[in-house]
Amino acid sequence: MQATTGPFFFRVMAPTDLAAVERIEQGSFPTPWSKDAFYREITENNLAFYYVAGCRSEREIIVGYAGIWVILDEVHLMTIAVHPDWRGHGLGEQFLYYVFAEACLKGGQRITLEVRPSNREALALYHRTGFKAAGRRRHYYTDNGEDAVIMWRDLPG
Ligand SMILES: CC(C)(COP(=O)(O)OP(=O)(O)OC[C@H]1O[C@@H](n2cnc3c(N)ncnc32)[C@H](O)[C@@H]1OP(=O)(O)O)[C@@H](O)C(=O)NCCC(=O)NCCS
Repeated sequence: MQATTGPFFFRVMAPTDLAAVERIEQGSFPTPWSKDAFYREITENNLAFYYVAGCRSEREIIVGYAGIWVILDEVHLMTIAVHPDWRGHGLGEQFLYYVFAEACLKGGQRITLEVRPSNREALALYHRTGFKAAGRRRHYYTDNGEDAVIMWRDLPG
């Protein structure tokens, strides 16, 4: 499904998006995934579905991406990132609702994720989009030993 809201569009990630995805990844995470890791996800993993958020102004640019795994009716939000220059304007929220719709189309009934307790922007986004904290995974993040907050949200079906 392709969706458009204002100047933004959302669609399935293609191999040609990976250079832009890798640049955003490197500006977003302390232990970034490689382009090859994304390539394997979108070409070899039958459970995985990845999407990009783009902006059409003078030309089309990729400004974010997200990925889910769908395991029967449970969906795991594997990643979401917005380019640092485009954060704080509600794009993450619009994009997440697009991902929820995609997850529903694939039969998902609930969606879960892990997030660092120190990631205030992400926590704000997840609370605003209906996720509730449901526990912790101790020392989940290998770079600094930080716990992960586990969150869940029902999907509308
Ligand atoms: C988490 C992330 C995807 C949110 O994307 P976004 O487009 O900024 O999302 P939104 O604008 O919808 O919401 C961001 C929240 O951070 C707040 N915020 C404040 N200043 C901000 C800033 N300078 N930059 C980003 N967010 C800011 C926003 O106001 C909003 O909080 P609110 O609900 O209290 O208003 C983005 O910050 C990101 O890519 N972070 C790095 C990767 C990451 O941590 N991903 C999540 C892993 S669990």
